[in-house]
Amino acid sequence: MTAMQWVFSFLKKYRKRLIFAMFLATITAVTAIINPHISGTVVDDVIMNGNHKILPKLVLIMVLSTLIRTTIRFWFVMIFETTSQKMLFTMRDYVYRKFMRQDFNFYNTNRTGDLMSRQTGDMEAIRHFVAYVIYSVYENVLLFVVALVMIFIVEYRLALCMIAVMPLTIYVTYKQLISVKPAFHNIRQHFSSLNTFVQENVSGNRVVKAFAKEDYEIAKFNRENDGFRDAELNASRIWMKYVPVFEFLANALTVILYLVGGIMVVTGSMSLGKLVQVSGYLWMLNLPLRQAGWLANDYQRFVTSAEKVYSTISIEPTITDPEDAIVRERFKGDIEFSKVSYNIGEERILKDISFKVHAGQTIGIIGSTGSGKTTLMNLLCRFYDVSSGEITLDGINVKNIELYSLRDNIGIAMQDVFLFSDTIEGNIAFGRPDCSMEEVIAAAKVANAHDFILQMPEGYDTIIGERGVGLSGGQKQRISLARALLKNPSIIVLDDTTSAVDMETETLIQEELTKTIGKHTVFVIAHRISSIKDADQILVVEDGKIVESGNHDSLLARKGYYHRVFHHQYGDFDQYTILQKEMGV
Ligand SMILES: Nc1ncnc2c1ncn2[C@@H]1O[C@H](COP(=O)(O)OP(=O)(O)O)[C@@H](O)[C@H]1O
Ligand SMILES: [Mg+2]
Repeated sequence: MTAMQWVFSFLKKYRKRLIFAMFLATITAVTAIINPHISGTVVDDVIMNGNHKILPKLVLIMVLSTLIRTTIRFWFVMIFETTSQKMLFTMRDYVYRKFMRQDFNFYNTNRTGDLMSRQTGDMEAIRHFVAYVIYSVYENVLLFVVALVMIFIVEYRLALCMIAVMPLTIYVTYKQLISVKPAFHNIRQHFSSLNTFVQENVSGNRVVKAFAKEDYEIAKFNRENDGFRDAELNASRIWMKYVPVFEFLANALTVILYLVGGIMVVTGSMSLGKLVQVSGYLWMLNLPLRQAGWLANDYQRFVTSAEKVYSTISIEPTITDPEDAIVRERFKGDIEFSKVSYNIGEERILKDISFKVHAGQTIGIIGSTGSGKTTLMNLLCRFYDVSSGEITLDGINVKNIELYSLRDNIGIAMQDVFLFSDTIEGNIAFGRPDCSMEEVIAAAKVANAHDFILQMPEGYDTIIGERGVGLSGGQKQRISLARALLKNPSIIVLDDTTSAVDMETETLIQEELTKTIGKHTVFVIAHRISSIKDADQILVVEDGKIVESGNHDSLLARKGYYHRVFHHQYGDFDQYTILQKEMGV
């Protein structure tokens, strides 16, 4: 499918309406010949021949035809306008759904500002095409053809002279269409880039402030802004060249008409009335010529935007539902990684990972930053697919499970906490918007968030800003934890969820979480030994590999990485216990 076919597929539904509107447009274009015809009759019959009686009738016809034409015109313009709005609605919805179905890779590679541009500026260019350009092109072509035909009928020799401008007009329109295309493409590019810049600097404004980089960013913005302006100016420089040409062609028509027509009237080969009638058609020829350039621009803007939107939505997500996907309301939570490797390009992120987890167990994962802990969980949730090996849930390869089923069974508190600008309650209940307030509170209590939420000005109804502005890091983490718990999934993933929470609060959270032991399979990724020491199984991940595994005691006994970390964190404590032992306390 091409971009054009894609856009027009949205208009299929409105085919009948649009054909009807085109029909109305045809009527107004064709009936445009009435008034000039009457003017001609007035000159020849009323003025020249003194047939005064028909004058009131002629005037009445003129008034009525003008009235009817205006009404019909209003009618079809409204049809195009409303159709464009309806189409835009469906198209936006479609594009949005496409965005929602996209995988992590899509969002890693596409900039937010670009995606925003697709849904705003580009959509508007497409809408404008449907609302205005389609009928304008049709109406102008029709007016031009009808006027020419009428002039042919009235005086074919005059028409032949006027037709001389046609080839040039077609050539110039074609030239303009071709030459503005790259310029409009450039404009869209700069528009996206400007959008991205503003979006990033508004969201990241706190960082900009913290580094006192306002002036620097303003200068950078000015460059983006300049770029956009230059792109627009560049495009206008190109099409401006064509404006005088079209203007010249329109004026040439007038000159030809009065020169050739005048000579014909003077030499008596044409009546004055006919000249008046033909000059009444002149606007029908001039208007299309004057509009051709603008419409060519609008068309090219539309084509560029349609292509941009289409190319964005044509990217197919690589993570999709398998055929005959297995759907389950609830999985038990047995998980097995067998020989799982994951590469990004040439780089091996995870190598040969194998481990087995029984439903209800708690698994601690520890390892230095960048060792691949988050990636492990991303593979489990199928945010990415393994490069080799397989991950099974209840013995079923996760690739065979319906994505919704799989992810609905996993409650994840991500390392990079994202909260929506909504109430606290809305954020916690994100996974289950229909749950009761009691459930929200219960989840908040487990996450040790209840108390601080109550201290907020409006409690659970407090609206938190974008990304949780107004909350501390630890508070955001606790809300994100409550959000994951409220889903009551069979698997819970806590990725560094308590890193910004003080030790005491963390202990309280752990105590609460212990009460639910056995109900969920829990993955706890953490840097503090205290967060994972009670886990049934602890995996030590280093450089994409599991270097040690076992429980707290067996790992300590190995005197490897885990033992080292333990000593870093509990060194003093350890010395103290040894001291105590030595002293026999
Ligand atoms: N989208 C990505 N593109 C390229 N590299 C990535 C991507 N995500 C993660 N990585 C790389 O994979 C490695 C493991 O990352 P991650 O699993 O986030 O580590 P951890 O959670 O243990 O800190 C890192 O070296 C990181 O740079
Ligand atoms: Mg991580």
